[in-house]
Amino acid sequence: MSVTPSSASKLPASDYVIFGGTGDLSFRKIFPAFFWRYLDGQLTDDFRLFATSRRAFNTRDFAEALRPFCGDAFASGYATEERWQAFLKIIQIVIMDVANGDGVGSLVTQIREKASIDRPTIFYLAIAPSLFGSAVQMLKNAGLVSPQARLVVEKPLGNDSASSRTINEKLAAVFNESQIYRIDHYLGKETVQNLMVLRFANVIFESLWSNQHIDHVQITVAETIGVGKRADYYDRFGATRDMVQNHLLQLVCLVAMEPPTYFAADQVRDEKLRVLRALRPLSLDDLALGQYAGYREELGEASNTETYVAMRLSIDNWRWAGVPFYIRTGKKLQQQASEIIITFKNLAHDIFAKSGGDKLSDYPNRLVIRLQPSEGLRLHMTSKQPGPGGMRLSPSDLNLSFEETFEERLPDAYERLLMDTARGNQTLFMRGDEVMAAWSFIDPILAMSANIAPARYVTGSMGPDDTLLEMDGRQWIDPDQDWR
Ligand code: BG6
Repeated sequence: MSVTPSSASKLPASDYVIFGGTGDLSFRKIFPAFFWRYLDGQLTDDFRLFATSRRAFNTRDFAEALRPFCGDAFASGYATEERWQAFLKIIQIVIMDVANGDGVGSLVTQIREKASIDRPTIFYLAIAPSLFGSAVQMLKNAGLVSPQARLVVEKPLGNDSASSRTINEKLAAVFNESQIYRIDHYLGKETVQNLMVLRFANVIFESLWSNQHIDHVQITVAETIGVGKRADYYDRFGATRDMVQNHLLQLVCLVAMEPPTYFAADQVRDEKLRVLRALRPLSLDDLALGQYAGYREELGEASNTETYVAMRLSIDNWRWAGVPFYIRTGKKLQQQASEIIITFKNLAHDIFAKSGGDKLSDYPNRLVIRLQPSEGLRLHMTSKQPGPGGMRLSPSDLNLSFEETFEERLPDAYERLLMDTARGNQTLFMRGDEVMAAWSFIDPILAMSANIAPARYVTGSMGPDDTLLEMDGRQWIDPDQDWR
Protein backbone atom coordinates (compact mmCIF):
# COMPACT_ATOMS: atom_id res chain seq x y z
CA MET A 1 0.00 0.00 0.00
CA SER A 2 1.47 3.35 -0.89
CA VAL A 3 0.43 6.79 0.22
CA THR A 4 1.21 10.04 -1.51
CA PRO A 5 1.77 12.76 1.04
CA SER A 6 3.24 15.11 -1.51
CA SER A 7 -0.02 15.48 -3.43
CA ALA A 8 -2.01 16.30 -0.31
CA SER A 9 -2.30 19.98 0.49
CA LYS A 10 -2.08 21.21 4.06
CA LEU A 11 -5.18 22.29 5.91
CA PRO A 12 -5.46 25.85 7.14
CA ALA A 13 -4.51 26.31 10.79
CA SER A 14 -7.80 25.66 12.62
CA ASP A 15 -9.41 24.62 15.85
CA TYR A 16 -11.43 21.45 15.45
CA VAL A 17 -13.62 20.50 18.39
CA ILE A 18 -15.22 17.06 18.63
CA PHE A 19 -18.08 16.99 21.10
CA GLY A 20 -18.44 13.40 22.21
CA GLY A 21 -14.72 13.12 21.60
CA THR A 22 -14.35 9.90 23.56
CA GLY A 23 -17.44 8.22 22.11
CA ASP A 24 -17.76 5.35 19.69
CA LEU A 25 -17.80 7.43 16.48
CA SER A 26 -14.79 9.44 17.56
CA PHE A 27 -12.65 6.39 18.26
CA ARG A 28 -13.86 4.29 15.35
CA LYS A 29 -13.88 6.91 12.62
CA ILE A 30 -13.02 10.51 13.43
CA PHE A 31 -9.65 10.30 15.15
CA PRO A 32 -8.27 7.45 13.00
CA ALA A 33 -9.17 9.55 9.94
CA PHE A 34 -7.33 12.54 11.39
CA PHE A 35 -4.36 10.33 12.17
CA TRP A 36 -4.09 9.16 8.54
CA ARG A 37 -4.23 12.73 7.34
CA TYR A 38 -1.66 13.74 9.91
CA LEU A 39 0.60 11.03 8.49
CA ASP A 40 -0.11 12.42 5.03
CA GLY A 41 1.24 15.73 6.23
CA GLN A 42 -2.03 17.62 5.95
CA LEU A 43 -2.36 18.63 9.59
CA THR A 44 0.25 21.07 10.77
CA ASP A 45 1.15 21.58 14.41
CA ASP A 46 -1.04 24.67 14.33
CA PHE A 47 -4.10 22.50 13.65
CA ARG A 48 -5.55 21.87 17.08
CA LEU A 49 -7.93 19.04 17.86
CA PHE A 50 -10.09 19.15 20.98
CA ALA A 51 -11.90 16.04 22.22
CA THR A 52 -14.57 16.85 24.74
CA SER A 53 -15.68 14.24 27.23
CA ARG A 54 -17.94 14.10 30.22
CA ARG A 55 -15.81 11.34 31.67
CA ALA A 56 -12.53 12.11 33.38
CA PHE A 57 -10.23 11.13 30.52
CA ASN A 58 -6.59 12.10 30.48
CA THR A 59 -4.34 12.07 27.44
CA ARG A 60 -2.90 8.70 28.35
CA ASP A 61 -6.31 7.03 28.66
CA PHE A 62 -7.30 8.65 25.40
CA ALA A 63 -4.22 7.43 23.58
CA GLU A 64 -4.68 3.91 24.93
CA ALA A 65 -8.33 3.80 23.93
CA LEU A 66 -7.66 5.20 20.45
CA ARG A 67 -4.60 3.17 19.54
CA PRO A 68 -6.41 -0.09 18.59
CA PHE A 69 -8.50 1.84 16.08
CA CYS A 70 -5.38 3.14 14.35
CA GLY A 71 -4.00 -0.36 13.85
CA ASP A 72 -4.17 -0.17 10.02
CA ALA A 73 -1.82 2.78 9.90
CA PHE A 74 0.76 0.88 11.96
CA ALA A 75 0.22 -2.41 10.12
CA SER A 76 0.87 -0.71 6.79
CA GLY A 77 4.23 0.47 8.11
CA TYR A 78 3.29 4.08 7.47
CA ALA A 79 2.80 5.11 11.08
CA THR A 80 5.71 5.19 13.51
CA GLU A 81 5.78 5.57 17.25
CA GLU A 82 7.31 9.00 16.84
CA ARG A 83 4.56 10.23 14.50
CA TRP A 84 1.91 8.80 16.82
CA GLN A 85 3.32 10.73 19.77
CA ALA A 86 3.51 13.88 17.67
CA PHE A 87 -0.11 13.42 16.58
CA LEU A 88 -1.25 13.04 20.18
CA LYS A 89 0.35 16.40 20.96
CA ILE A 90 -2.12 18.28 18.76
CA ILE A 91 -5.06 16.78 20.71
CA GLN A 92 -6.39 18.37 23.89
CA ILE A 93 -8.96 16.67 26.09
CA VAL A 94 -11.58 19.00 27.52
CA ILE A 95 -13.78 17.67 30.30
CA MET A 96 -17.15 19.27 29.86
CA ASP A 97 -20.85 18.64 29.49
CA VAL A 98 -22.05 19.66 26.08
CA ALA A 99 -25.69 19.71 27.14
CA ASN A 100 -25.38 22.45 29.74
CA GLY A 101 -21.95 23.89 29.09
CA ASP A 102 -20.43 22.93 32.45
CA GLY A 103 -16.68 23.13 31.96
CA VAL A 104 -16.78 24.97 28.61
CA GLY A 105 -14.66 27.80 30.08
CA SER A 106 -11.33 26.14 29.35
CA LEU A 107 -12.35 25.47 25.74
CA VAL A 108 -13.37 29.09 25.30
CA THR A 109 -10.05 30.30 26.73
CA GLN A 110 -8.01 28.05 24.46
CA ILE A 111 -9.95 29.00 21.35
CA ARG A 112 -9.77 32.71 22.16
CA GLU A 113 -5.99 32.50 22.52
CA LYS A 114 -5.63 31.91 18.78
CA ALA A 115 -8.91 33.27 17.41
CA SER A 116 -8.53 35.30 14.24
CA ILE A 117 -10.57 36.11 11.20
CA ASP A 118 -8.84 33.51 9.06
CA ARG A 119 -8.77 30.74 11.63
CA PRO A 120 -11.81 28.47 11.31
CA THR A 121 -13.33 26.82 14.36
CA ILE A 122 -15.16 23.63 13.53
CA PHE A 123 -17.58 22.00 15.94
CA TYR A 124 -18.39 18.38 15.26
CA LEU A 125 -21.40 17.11 17.22
CA ALA A 126 -20.54 13.43 17.61
CA ILE A 127 -23.35 13.18 20.16
CA ALA A 128 -26.99 12.08 20.21
CA PRO A 129 -29.17 14.28 17.96
CA SER A 130 -31.46 14.91 20.94
CA LEU A 131 -28.60 17.08 22.30
CA PHE A 132 -28.04 19.10 19.09
CA GLY A 133 -30.38 21.92 20.15
CA SER A 134 -28.82 22.44 23.56
CA ALA A 135 -25.31 22.04 22.16
CA VAL A 136 -25.69 24.83 19.59
CA GLN A 137 -27.32 27.12 22.17
CA MET A 138 -24.43 26.39 24.51
CA LEU A 139 -21.96 27.35 21.76
CA LYS A 140 -23.84 30.57 21.20
CA ASN A 141 -23.97 31.42 24.91
CA ALA A 142 -20.26 30.72 25.24
CA GLY A 143 -19.59 33.23 22.44
CA LEU A 144 -18.06 30.59 20.18
CA VAL A 145 -20.26 31.12 17.13
CA SER A 146 -18.15 33.50 15.08
CA PRO A 147 -18.48 33.94 11.29
CA GLN A 148 -15.52 31.53 11.02
CA ALA A 149 -17.38 28.81 12.97
CA ARG A 150 -18.70 25.69 11.25
CA LEU A 151 -20.96 22.96 12.52
CA VAL A 152 -20.76 19.28 11.57
CA VAL A 153 -23.67 16.94 12.28
CA GLU A 154 -24.59 13.48 11.26
CA LYS A 155 -27.64 11.29 10.95
CA PRO A 156 -30.10 10.43 12.29
CA LEU A 157 -31.30 13.93 11.45
CA GLY A 158 -34.83 13.13 12.59
CA ASN A 159 -36.99 10.11 11.90
CA ASP A 160 -39.54 11.80 9.66
CA SER A 161 -40.14 15.20 8.08
CA ALA A 162 -41.52 16.83 11.21
CA SER A 163 -38.69 15.78 13.53
CA SER A 164 -36.09 16.55 10.89
CA ARG A 165 -37.54 20.04 10.42
CA THR A 166 -37.35 20.59 14.18
CA ILE A 167 -33.65 19.66 14.20
CA ASN A 168 -32.95 21.88 11.19
CA GLU A 169 -34.70 24.79 12.87
CA LYS A 170 -32.65 24.37 16.02
CA LEU A 171 -29.41 24.40 14.03
CA ALA A 172 -30.58 27.30 11.88
CA ALA A 173 -31.35 29.37 14.96
CA VAL A 174 -27.60 29.60 15.59
CA PHE A 175 -25.75 28.77 12.35
CA ASN A 176 -26.28 29.85 8.75
CA GLU A 177 -26.80 27.14 6.15
CA SER A 178 -23.37 27.96 4.73
CA GLN A 179 -21.85 27.01 8.10
CA ILE A 180 -23.63 23.65 8.47
CA TYR A 181 -22.09 20.39 7.25
CA ARG A 182 -24.50 17.43 7.30
CA ILE A 183 -22.57 14.24 6.84
CA ASP A 184 -23.79 11.34 4.75
CA HIS A 185 -20.70 9.19 4.93
CA TYR A 186 -21.53 7.50 1.60
CA LEU A 187 -20.67 10.76 -0.15
CA GLY A 188 -17.15 10.52 1.27
CA LYS A 189 -16.49 7.09 -0.23
CA GLU A 190 -13.99 7.25 -3.06
CA THR A 191 -16.15 5.20 -5.40
CA VAL A 192 -19.19 7.34 -4.75
CA GLN A 193 -17.26 10.48 -5.62
CA ASN A 194 -15.96 8.68 -8.63
CA LEU A 195 -19.52 8.30 -9.88
CA MET A 196 -19.54 11.99 -10.70
CA VAL A 197 -16.20 11.77 -12.44
CA LEU A 198 -17.28 8.70 -14.37
CA ARG A 199 -20.36 10.47 -15.65
CA PHE A 200 -19.12 13.99 -16.17
CA ALA A 201 -15.51 13.54 -17.21
CA ASN A 202 -15.98 10.77 -19.78
CA VAL A 203 -17.66 11.47 -23.06
CA ILE A 204 -18.52 7.84 -23.72
CA PHE A 205 -21.12 7.47 -20.98
CA GLU A 206 -22.97 10.76 -20.96
CA SER A 207 -24.47 10.33 -24.42
CA LEU A 208 -25.85 6.92 -23.38
CA TRP A 209 -27.05 8.06 -19.96
CA SER A 210 -30.81 8.29 -20.43
CA ASN A 211 -33.97 6.37 -21.18
CA GLN A 212 -32.92 6.16 -24.82
CA HIS A 213 -30.21 3.64 -24.01
CA ILE A 214 -30.61 2.54 -20.40
CA ASP A 215 -33.09 -0.23 -19.64
CA HIS A 216 -32.97 -0.06 -15.85
CA VAL A 217 -30.72 0.60 -12.88
CA GLN A 218 -30.16 -1.63 -9.85
CA ILE A 219 -28.55 -0.52 -6.61
CA THR A 220 -27.72 -3.11 -3.99
CA VAL A 221 -26.19 -2.31 -0.61
CA ALA A 222 -25.87 -5.66 1.13
CA GLU A 223 -24.49 -6.18 4.61
CA THR A 224 -23.66 -9.38 6.44
CA ILE A 225 -23.79 -7.83 9.89
CA GLY A 226 -26.95 -7.84 11.96
CA VAL A 227 -28.12 -5.07 14.23
CA GLY A 228 -26.06 -6.34 17.18
CA LYS A 229 -25.61 -3.79 19.93
CA ARG A 230 -27.55 -1.16 18.01
CA ALA A 231 -30.85 -3.03 18.33
CA ASP A 232 -32.53 -0.30 20.38
CA TYR A 233 -31.71 2.41 17.87
CA TYR A 234 -32.31 0.21 14.86
CA ASP A 235 -35.69 -1.04 15.95
CA ARG A 236 -36.97 2.53 16.04
CA PHE A 237 -35.57 3.25 12.59
CA GLY A 238 -35.45 0.20 10.32
CA ALA A 239 -33.74 -0.10 6.95
CA THR A 240 -35.84 2.56 5.20
CA ARG A 241 -34.83 5.32 7.58
CA ASP A 242 -31.37 3.98 8.39
CA MET A 243 -30.16 3.41 4.83
CA VAL A 244 -32.63 4.49 2.13
CA GLN A 245 -33.56 8.00 3.28
CA ASN A 246 -29.90 8.96 3.16
CA HIS A 247 -27.31 6.67 1.57
CA LEU A 248 -29.36 4.95 -1.13
CA LEU A 249 -31.23 8.07 -2.18
CA GLN A 250 -27.91 9.90 -2.43
CA LEU A 251 -26.66 7.16 -4.75
CA VAL A 252 -29.81 7.46 -6.85
CA CYS A 253 -29.21 11.22 -7.05
CA LEU A 254 -25.64 10.84 -8.25
CA VAL A 255 -26.62 8.33 -10.92
CA ALA A 256 -29.64 10.32 -12.09
CA MET A 257 -28.76 14.00 -11.70
CA GLU A 258 -28.21 16.40 -14.58
CA PRO A 259 -24.68 17.71 -15.01
CA PRO A 260 -24.16 20.67 -12.70
CA THR A 261 -22.87 23.83 -14.37
CA TYR A 262 -19.64 23.32 -12.53
CA PHE A 263 -18.40 21.22 -9.67
CA ALA A 264 -19.29 23.39 -6.73
CA ALA A 265 -21.38 22.85 -3.64
CA ASP A 266 -24.64 24.53 -4.55
CA GLN A 267 -24.57 23.52 -8.20
CA VAL A 268 -24.19 19.85 -7.27
CA ARG A 269 -26.75 20.04 -4.49
CA ASP A 270 -29.30 21.87 -6.68
CA GLU A 271 -29.14 19.01 -9.17
CA LYS A 272 -29.49 16.32 -6.52
CA LEU A 273 -32.47 18.16 -5.09
CA ARG A 274 -34.16 18.11 -8.50
CA VAL A 275 -33.88 14.33 -8.60
CA LEU A 276 -35.36 13.94 -5.13
CA ARG A 277 -38.25 16.15 -6.10
CA ALA A 278 -38.86 14.16 -9.28
CA LEU A 279 -39.26 10.84 -7.45
CA ARG A 280 -42.74 9.48 -7.99
CA PRO A 281 -44.57 8.53 -4.77
CA LEU A 282 -44.36 4.78 -4.27
CA SER A 283 -47.35 2.49 -4.48
CA LEU A 284 -47.72 -0.75 -2.55
CA ASP A 285 -46.51 -2.72 -5.56
CA ASP A 286 -43.21 -0.86 -5.52
CA LEU A 287 -42.19 -1.92 -2.03
CA ALA A 288 -40.93 -5.12 -0.39
CA LEU A 289 -39.93 -5.45 3.24
CA GLY A 290 -38.11 -8.21 5.05
CA GLN A 291 -36.82 -9.08 8.49
CA TYR A 292 -34.07 -11.61 9.13
CA ALA A 293 -34.96 -14.72 11.09
CA GLY A 294 -33.69 -14.29 14.62
CA TYR A 295 -34.11 -10.49 14.70
CA ARG A 296 -36.90 -10.59 17.26
CA GLU A 297 -34.93 -12.95 19.46
CA GLU A 298 -31.95 -10.59 19.27
CA LEU A 299 -34.17 -7.65 20.17
CA GLY A 300 -35.96 -9.58 22.89
CA GLU A 301 -39.45 -8.59 21.77
CA ALA A 302 -41.91 -8.82 18.89
CA SER A 303 -41.24 -6.26 16.20
CA ASN A 304 -42.21 -5.52 12.62
CA THR A 305 -39.17 -3.38 11.90
CA GLU A 306 -37.72 -4.10 8.47
CA THR A 307 -34.08 -5.13 8.23
CA TYR A 308 -34.42 -5.40 4.45
CA VAL A 309 -36.15 -3.12 2.02
CA ALA A 310 -36.45 -3.12 -1.74
CA MET A 311 -38.14 -0.47 -3.86
CA ARG A 312 -38.90 0.25 -7.46
CA LEU A 313 -38.35 3.97 -7.98
CA SER A 314 -39.53 6.03 -10.92
CA ILE A 315 -38.01 9.38 -11.69
CA ASP A 316 -40.53 11.56 -13.41
CA ASN A 317 -38.40 13.66 -15.68
CA TRP A 318 -37.40 13.85 -19.31
CA ARG A 319 -34.20 11.84 -18.96
CA TRP A 320 -35.50 8.97 -16.86
CA ALA A 321 -39.16 8.49 -17.80
CA GLY A 322 -39.74 4.75 -18.17
CA VAL A 323 -36.45 3.65 -16.55
CA PRO A 324 -37.01 1.91 -13.22
CA PHE A 325 -34.41 2.26 -10.48
CA TYR A 326 -34.57 -0.85 -8.30
CA ILE A 327 -32.89 -0.37 -4.96
CA ARG A 328 -32.42 -2.77 -2.06
CA THR A 329 -30.51 -2.95 1.16
CA GLY A 330 -30.52 -5.33 4.07
CA LYS A 331 -28.70 -6.78 7.03
CA LYS A 332 -27.54 -10.39 7.53
CA LEU A 333 -27.47 -10.96 3.80
CA GLN A 334 -25.27 -13.34 1.89
CA GLN A 335 -22.39 -10.95 1.40
CA GLN A 336 -21.02 -7.55 2.25
CA ALA A 337 -21.13 -5.79 -1.08
CA SER A 338 -22.49 -2.67 -2.70
CA GLU A 339 -22.99 -2.27 -6.41
CA ILE A 340 -24.75 -0.04 -8.87
CA ILE A 341 -25.60 -1.84 -12.09
CA ILE A 342 -26.67 0.03 -15.20
CA THR A 343 -28.23 -2.30 -17.76
CA PHE A 344 -28.33 -0.92 -21.28
CA LYS A 345 -31.03 -1.60 -23.82
CA ASN A 346 -30.46 -4.13 -26.56
CA LEU A 347 -29.56 -3.04 -30.04
CA ALA A 348 -32.64 -2.42 -32.14
CA HIS A 349 -31.44 -4.84 -34.84
CA ASP A 350 -29.29 -7.91 -34.29
CA ILE A 351 -27.22 -8.69 -37.37
CA PHE A 352 -25.93 -11.91 -35.80
CA ALA A 353 -29.36 -13.33 -35.03
CA LYS A 354 -29.62 -15.28 -38.25
CA SER A 355 -26.23 -16.96 -37.95
CA GLY A 356 -27.77 -19.41 -35.50
CA GLY A 357 -25.51 -18.43 -32.61
CA ASP A 358 -26.34 -16.74 -29.37
CA LYS A 359 -28.71 -13.83 -29.45
CA LEU A 360 -27.39 -10.39 -28.61
CA SER A 361 -30.33 -9.89 -26.26
CA ASP A 362 -28.84 -12.66 -24.11
CA TYR A 363 -25.90 -10.37 -23.36
CA PRO A 364 -27.03 -6.86 -22.60
CA ASN A 365 -24.23 -4.38 -22.03
CA ARG A 366 -23.93 -3.64 -18.36
CA LEU A 367 -21.87 -1.19 -16.39
CA VAL A 368 -21.21 -2.40 -12.87
CA ILE A 369 -19.98 0.21 -10.44
CA ARG A 370 -18.61 -1.63 -7.48
CA LEU A 371 -18.73 0.62 -4.42
CA GLN A 372 -17.28 -1.79 -1.88
CA PRO A 373 -15.33 -3.96 -1.34
CA SER A 374 -12.96 -4.48 -4.31
CA GLU A 375 -13.87 -1.03 -5.61
CA GLY A 376 -13.91 -0.70 -9.36
CA LEU A 377 -15.81 -0.72 -12.61
CA ARG A 378 -16.78 -3.54 -14.92
CA LEU A 379 -18.21 -3.15 -18.36
CA HIS A 380 -19.95 -6.25 -19.64
CA MET A 381 -19.63 -6.48 -23.38
CA THR A 382 -20.11 -9.04 -26.10
CA SER A 383 -17.13 -10.38 -28.07
CA LYS A 384 -16.45 -13.03 -30.63
CA GLN A 385 -15.46 -16.32 -29.10
CA PRO A 386 -12.00 -16.95 -30.54
CA GLY A 387 -11.23 -20.10 -32.50
CA PRO A 388 -13.21 -22.39 -34.73
CA GLY A 389 -16.97 -22.66 -34.67
CA GLY A 390 -17.98 -19.64 -36.70
CA MET A 391 -19.21 -16.34 -35.36
CA ARG A 392 -19.93 -17.36 -31.82
CA LEU A 393 -20.79 -14.53 -29.46
CA SER A 394 -19.46 -14.61 -26.00
CA PRO A 395 -19.74 -12.36 -22.94
CA SER A 396 -16.57 -10.61 -21.89
CA ASP A 397 -15.65 -7.95 -19.34
CA LEU A 398 -13.56 -4.82 -19.24
CA ASN A 399 -12.35 -4.58 -15.68
CA LEU A 400 -10.98 -1.62 -13.78
CA SER A 401 -9.91 -2.31 -10.24
CA PHE A 402 -9.17 0.97 -8.46
CA GLU A 403 -6.68 -0.58 -6.10
CA GLU A 404 -4.63 -2.17 -8.87
CA THR A 405 -4.88 0.82 -11.17
CA PHE A 406 -4.00 3.54 -8.72
CA GLU A 407 -1.87 1.57 -6.29
CA GLU A 408 -2.92 3.84 -3.49
CA ARG A 409 -4.77 3.10 -0.33
CA LEU A 410 -8.45 3.95 -0.61
CA PRO A 411 -9.04 6.32 2.29
CA ASP A 412 -11.98 5.90 4.59
CA ALA A 413 -14.93 8.16 3.78
CA TYR A 414 -14.42 10.18 6.95
CA GLU A 415 -10.98 11.36 5.89
CA ARG A 416 -12.30 13.20 2.87
CA LEU A 417 -15.29 14.58 4.75
CA LEU A 418 -13.25 15.87 7.68
CA MET A 419 -10.77 17.53 5.33
CA ASP A 420 -13.63 19.21 3.48
CA THR A 421 -15.16 20.55 6.69
CA ALA A 422 -11.78 22.04 7.57
CA ARG A 423 -11.43 23.58 4.12
CA GLY A 424 -14.97 24.89 4.03
CA ASN A 425 -16.09 22.84 1.03
CA GLN A 426 -19.75 21.81 1.29
CA THR A 427 -20.03 19.88 -1.98
CA LEU A 428 -20.18 16.45 -0.35
CA PHE A 429 -22.57 17.48 2.40
CA MET A 430 -26.34 17.49 2.35
CA ARG A 431 -28.08 20.81 2.30
CA GLY A 432 -31.11 21.26 4.58
CA ASP A 433 -33.56 21.28 1.66
CA GLU A 434 -32.13 18.02 0.33
CA VAL A 435 -32.65 16.29 3.66
CA MET A 436 -36.20 17.60 3.78
CA ALA A 437 -36.94 16.50 0.20
CA ALA A 438 -35.68 13.01 1.01
CA TRP A 439 -37.95 12.86 4.05
CA SER A 440 -40.93 14.09 2.03
CA PHE A 441 -40.44 11.12 -0.27
CA ILE A 442 -39.91 8.69 2.62
CA ASP A 443 -42.78 9.80 4.92
CA PRO A 444 -45.59 8.18 2.87
CA ILE A 445 -43.51 5.03 2.49
CA LEU A 446 -43.20 4.78 6.25
CA ALA A 447 -46.94 5.23 6.59
CA MET A 448 -47.47 2.44 4.06
CA SER A 449 -44.89 0.16 5.70
CA ALA A 450 -46.65 0.44 9.04
CA ASN A 451 -49.36 -1.83 7.64
CA ILE A 452 -47.04 -4.41 6.13
CA ALA A 453 -45.63 -7.35 8.05
CA PRO A 454 -42.08 -7.84 6.72
CA ALA A 455 -41.38 -11.23 5.15
CA ARG A 456 -38.93 -13.38 7.11
CA TYR A 457 -35.71 -14.22 5.36
CA VAL A 458 -32.96 -16.64 6.19
CA THR A 459 -29.65 -15.24 7.36
CA GLY A 460 -27.15 -15.54 4.55
CA SER A 461 -29.74 -15.26 1.78
CA MET A 462 -30.23 -12.22 -0.43
CA GLY A 463 -33.42 -11.25 1.40
CA PRO A 464 -36.99 -12.37 0.91
CA ASP A 465 -38.28 -13.19 -2.55
CA ASP A 466 -39.97 -10.22 -4.05
CA THR A 467 -41.74 -9.73 -7.33
CA LEU A 468 -40.65 -6.15 -7.94
CA LEU A 469 -38.48 -7.04 -10.91
CA GLU A 470 -40.26 -10.19 -11.94
CA MET A 471 -43.38 -8.15 -12.65
CA ASP A 472 -41.28 -6.20 -15.13
CA GLY A 473 -39.68 -9.30 -16.67
CA ARG A 474 -36.31 -8.68 -15.00
CA GLN A 475 -34.37 -10.11 -12.11
CA TRP A 476 -32.05 -8.97 -9.37
CA ILE A 477 -28.39 -9.34 -10.13
CA ASP A 478 -26.53 -10.29 -7.00
CA PRO A 479 -23.09 -8.83 -6.43
CA ASP A 480 -20.47 -11.17 -7.89
CA GLN A 481 -23.17 -13.23 -9.56
CA ASP A 482 -22.28 -14.41 -12.98
CA TRP A 483 -24.21 -11.73 -14.75
CA ARG A 484 -25.85 -14.06 -17.15
C1 BG6 B 1 -24.84 3.53 8.63
C2 BG6 B 1 -26.01 2.74 9.12
O1 BG6 B 1 -25.23 4.83 8.28
O2 BG6 B 1 -24.26 2.90 7.50
C3 BG6 B 1 -25.59 1.32 9.44
O3 BG6 B 1 -26.56 3.35 10.27
C4 BG6 B 1 -24.87 0.69 8.27
O4 BG6 B 1 -26.71 0.52 9.82
C5 BG6 B 1 -23.77 1.59 7.75
O5 BG6 B 1 -24.32 -0.55 8.70
C6 BG6 B 1 -23.18 1.05 6.46
O6 BG6 B 1 -22.07 1.81 6.11
P1 BG6 B 1 -20.86 1.18 5.28
O7 BG6 B 1 -19.92 2.31 5.09
O8 BG6 B 1 -20.33 0.06 6.12
O9 BG6 B 1 -21.46 0.68 4.01
